[in-house]
Amino acid sequence: MLPKIVSCTTLCYLAVASLLVALLLLLAVYFYAQYTLGICKSKKKMDGKTVIITGCTSGIGKETARDIARRGARLIMACRNMEAANKFKEELIKESGNNNIVVRKLDLSSLSSVREFAQQINREENRLDVLIHNAGTAEVFRKKVTEDGLEMTMATNHYGPFLLTHLLIDLLKRSKPSRIVVVASGLYVLARLNLNDVNPTTTMPGYLYYVSKYANIVFALELARRLEGSGVAANCLHPGLMSTGIWKNVPPPVSWVLNFILNTFCKTPVQGAQTTIHVAVSDELDGTSGKYFSDCHEQELFRHVKDPSKGKKFWELSETMVKLQPTDPKI
Ligand SMILES: NC(=O)c1ccc[n+]([C@@H]2O[C@H](COP(=O)([O-])OP(=O)(O)OC[C@H]3O[C@@H](n4cnc5c(N)ncnc54)[C@H](OP(=O)(O)O)[C@@H]3O)[C@@H](O)[C@H]2O)c1
Repeated sequence: MLPKIVSCTTLCYLAVASLLVALLLLLAVYFYAQYTLGICKSKKKMDGKTVIITGCTSGIGKETARDIARRGARLIMACRNMEAANKFKEELIKESGNNNIVVRKLDLSSLSSVREFAQQINREENRLDVLIHNAGTAEVFRKKVTEDGLEMTMATNHYGPFLLTHLLIDLLKRSKPSRIVVVASGLYVLARLNLNDVNPTTTMPGYLYYVSKYANIVFALELARRLEGSGVAANCLHPGLMSTGIWKNVPPPVSWVLNFILNTFCKTPVQGAQTTIHVAVSDELDGTSGKYFSDCHEQELFRHVKDPSKGKKFWELSETMVKLQPTDPKI
């Protein structure tokens, strides 16, 4: 009998101790996040400039749009959900006094939608100063394939932005100096890019989110190499961790714990938008390209993600995956 009581008590002590350790760790994360928090200090006005932000109906994109609207730029909200986007547009106009805001339909998971969007932009716009690839999705369990036969997470997070960049590159070059900003994630460290399977339709989608963020970095670095001397800069970033729609496919009860942790100990979407804004607008980054940022500072990347031969190979494979046409601009 005695050993059972002892083991029960020990178990209770262990559980309490583990909880305390977890709490201490989370508090450390919180204080670290607050201490290192990067805030974009640039007061730059952007009157006369045109900025496209993909996926700005929620989370980081919404807060980035709010900031860019206040700076006076012509803001093109590239969104899939037109109702939510138009509603937010009205809110932005009221709040910023900037009437130069438009919504354009873009579903990054559809190659034809990307082409239609780019056609409209090339037809209507005479300049493009900043292209912010912000939109993203994260499936957890559901394996989904797009109408183009591409795995959904990779299609939305990498292939759509890859094709869009090609189709808008001439406009960006004509507007130089211009910038391309890729919202990646520090969680790239959890993944590797398998160049023998760049359309991983049978892999667990939850893991593919990290792969797609790895792909974002490989893409941004290779893009910067290819655009050297063109006047178009390409950089990528980690916005930090925060509670946004990106976690919406995580099922309960994990989502309850996750959201509690993200809401209590991590960044807010306003804080999460700061590095994107910094990379998109700050004068101090004029001429900076091919870099990775976090908390508004340049950060080192792991060597394997920077490998130029991997970048080149992945680029060529991506050209095939998005069915790049001989008449499309080549980067
Ligand atoms: N939150 C984090 O902790 C975190 C950490 C690291 C990196 N990130 C990155 O930050 C970026 C912004 O994400 P978030 O956290 O702000 O998430 P979010 O709140 O879910 O916002 C994602 C946006 O992308 C749009 N989107 C999704 N699929 C799309 C598609 N097929 N075509 C066009 N737009 C689409 C969504 O629009 P709908 O309303 O139509 O779905 C939404 O506006 C993502 O690239 C994400 O990977 C986030």
